Formats: sequence, C-alpha cells, structure tokens
Amino acid sequence: QKDVGILAMEMYFPPTCVQQEALEAHDGASKGKYTIGLGQDCMAFCSELEDVISMSLTAVSSLLEKYKIDPKQIGRLEVGSETVIDKSKSIKTFLMTIFEECDNTDIEGVDSTNACYGGTAALFNVVNWVESNSWDGRYGLVVCTDSAVYAEGPARPTGGAAAIAMLIGPDAPIAFESKYRGSHMSHVYDFYKPNLASEYPVVDGKLSQTCYLMALDSCYKRFCAKYEKCQGKQFSMDDADYFVFHSPYNKLVQKSFARLYFMDFLRNASSVDEASKEKLAPFAALSGEESYASRDLEKTSQTVAKNLYAEKVGPTTLLPKQVGNMYTASLYAAFASLLHNKNSSLGGKRVIMFSYGSGLSSTMFSFRMREGSHPFSLSNIATVMDVAHKLESRHEVTPEKFVETMQLMEHSVKSEGVVAKIFRVSFLSGVLISEVMELYTKWVRRNKDY
Ligand code: ACO
Repeated sequence: QKDVGILAMEMYFPPTCVQQEALEAHDGASKGKYTIGLGQDCMAFCSELEDVISMSLTAVSSLLEKYKIDPKQIGRLEVGSETVIDKSKSIKTFLMTIFEECDNTDIEGVDSTNACYGGTAALFNVVNWVESNSWDGRYGLVVCTDSAVYAEGPARPTGGAAAIAMLIGPDAPIAFESKYRGSHMSHVYDFYKPNLASEYPVVDGKLSQTCYLMALDSCYKRFCAKYEKCQGKQFSMDDADYFVFHSPYNKLVQKSFARLYFMDFLRNASSVDEASKEKLAPFAALSGEESYASRDLEKTSQTVAKNLYAEKVGPTTLLPKQVGNMYTASLYAAFASLLHNKNSSLGGKRVIMFSYGSGLSSTMFSFRMREGSHPFSLSNIATVMDVAHKLESRHEVTPEKFVETMQLMEHSVKSEGVVAKIFRVSFLSGVLISEVMELYTKWVRRNKDY
C-alpha cells in the first residue's frame, strides 16, 4: 500500500481544568515554578463523571460520525493506555459496544501498555497491518487514552487527561516514512505503577528526565543512520520542518530540542551556524554522563537553539501546555497542535516525532505531510478537532476542588471492576451505549459517597 498513515483524527479532553498559576500558589511553590519552570499553563483532569473509557468512547464515536465512517468499515482497533481499568479485560473490548450495535465484531487488535509509549506501539501495529498481507482493505483505528494523575508533591502539576482517536489507511495526508525509525528500549525504574490499588505512579523525577534525554540521543543517532543509509547523505535538523516530542511538561521539550541541536553540533551537521559552534565548543569534550549533568550546556544549547525552537517546535506546544501530560495521547496532542496552527501550510513538510514511555521504550519516526482530499485533508482534520473551541469551552475549577476530586477518585479506584460488570450486564441484556453510559455515570456518582 502507498502512503499509509493517519487519515483522520479526533480528540477529547475533559472540560474540567485547573490553572497552573493558581495551583502553584495553592501548593506553596515559588511563583513561576509551574508556569515558567515547568512551562505549563493549565491542567485538565477527569472529574468523577468520566474516565479513560468514557473519553475514548467519545473520541471514537465522534470520529466515526464527523468523518461519516460506517463502523462496519473498521477492521482493526488498537488502544494504547497506561491507565489500568481491569487487569485482564482490554479497553478495546469496551469500545466494541460501538461496533456491536452495527453488527461488526470482526475487528482485530487489543491494548498495548508501556507508560506513555503504548499509543505509539498501537499505531505501529495498525500501520504495519495495513502495510501487510493480512490487510483486508478496511480501515484501522488507534486510540490513545489516559488520565495522568500524581500523588501530592512535585509531580502533581505534570498531570493531564485526554483521548485521541486516529483513523489509519493508505493514501493518507499524514503518511509514515516507514524506513526512518530509530528505537531505544531498556530496563529502568524511572516511573512505574507497582501498586495496583492506586492510579498514582512511583516516579523518580530526575532519573526520568535523564532517561528521556538519553533515549532521545540514542533514537536520534539511529534515526540519522537509517536516513543516511537510504538517502546517501547526512541528516541534519534542517531536513525536518517540525519536531514533535512526547511532552510530560514543556520545559523538557525545550531541553530536548536543545539536546538535538547539540547532537547536530557534535555530528558537525549543517544546521549549526558558526556563532553557535563557538558557544558550544567548550562542551565538545564532555562524556555522555557529564553532558547530561551539565547545567551550563543545558542553558547554552537552549539559548543557541532558541530561534529554531520557536520555528520548528513552537507550533506543537499549545495542547500539551494547556491540557498537561496526557501520557499515551501527549505526543499526538502535540501533533494535533501543529495541525491546528499550521494546517494550511503543511503540505510537503516533514515532521519528526519522538515517543517516550518510561520503563523504558522510545522511538523516533517521521511523517511526510500531504494536503489530502476531503474528508481526509489536513484542513478538515483541524476543523473536526476544533481545538480552539474545545479549549474555550472548558471550565476552570479552584485548586481546592481539584484536590477534592483527586481524593474522591482515590476511593473510587479501589472499587474498580464494578465498571466492567455494568458493561457486561448491559451487553447481555442488549441495552444501548447511551444507556450503558447512564448506568456507568450513576455508578460513579454513587461512589462519591463511598
Ligand atoms: N520560577 C521559574 N523557574 C523555577 C522556579 C521559579 N520560581 N522554581 C523552580 N524553577 C525551575 C527549576 O529551575 C527547574 O527548571 P530547570 O530544570 O530548567 O532548572 C524547573 O523549574 C523544575 O524545578 P525542579 O526543582 O527541578 O522541580 P521538581 O524537582 O520539584 O519537579 C519534576 C520537577 C521532576 C519534573 C516533577 O514534576 C516530576 O517528577 N514529574 C513527573 C515525571 C516526569 O514527567 N518525567 C518526564 C519523563 S517521564 C513521563 O513522561 C511521565
């Protein structure tokens, strides 16, 4: 198949959010720590009325409706998530309620899990399916859905929540350059969830930052090597128009881009001008370890890469700054920001994506953008996602209300399993999704007094 990739996208994030500036004051953090220090503006979170299943049901049904896709045309559905709803039953099976109503139960695929990387794993599975001999001519669907919540402490402002659905097929406006992929996989305990009775991860913040940057270096080297093998010339940042990063918080994205710039400097690539070479020269002899620890290098490379950052990364940062870390959906929300900001000028452009999931799994890959034709055009995708409207129609809550909701959810999580029961009962008695959702909502409300 030619130009396999993303044909259509839809995104949902909760309407409830808390301003980082207010949270900063509430938490007693120094002024500017969350907004400038972490680079975040606002954080979305699930109230007790929604979760990863309801968010993904919304994203999928809305995508099918808005692009007028018959649910029978879906042949594979994969979900990426790290929000555990059930230790065995996949989120994908909950989504089957949409397709069973239309008599389509012939849909391959289940869930993929590894921190924030599960969405990318799901996407690769579906793209590989469309490119393979097993493809039956129908569309694939990928869903990234997560609610990122942290215990009280320094990681709490780096939460967020969203679901993104992506329709996959040939002749796509967002086409994979499948030959250029560089991965780095390793065994570390930087962020993990050993306590199954809690939604909160155990996180070693500093270690996770270093692991992220080391993975980035490694993926970039491999990506460049593959590009060079295919193209017979060196890859530099000039060969890509935009860089989209998994975005736990914006400051790490700024550091990541600066790191790639430093890598280009070390590789003597054409993207680095003479003035920047001079400023970076004192750091050329640092060992890998030393270079991750050097604050001077971090600051200097961020300064010399500043203009390029504004041009190649700036347009990708809106949603991650406004919604927060959406785990599996975070990278694709950053990409959705690019579509929102630049859809009319993206035709022909190359976009580099960097996916990172703690634990750890990471891949750098590449899209070639094409204008496409309705309904699968870049401009229509931006219209359907309607990011500006979604952001405007949110309602802010106070930090106190946010904390209260987190406490409520801590209790609800302990009674997980009931959700699955409601869905199973409703399936057996043949009720509609709307009724299932009503039952589900009632159940969650009841848990308020749990
Ligand atoms: N004004 C401006 N900047 C400030 C202020 C202030 N008042 N106070 C602090 N800062 C800056 C700091 O200098 C630092 O920036 P720098 O790194 O450029 O120097 C930044 O704000 C953060 O401050 P720290 O003291 O480093 O923050 P802390 O250690 O308290 O927490 C962390 C940050 C580790 C990111 C925490 O939020 C966390 O653990 N998050 C979850 C882990 C995570 O997201 N890891 C990323 C990859 S893994 C994943 O995706 C889940």
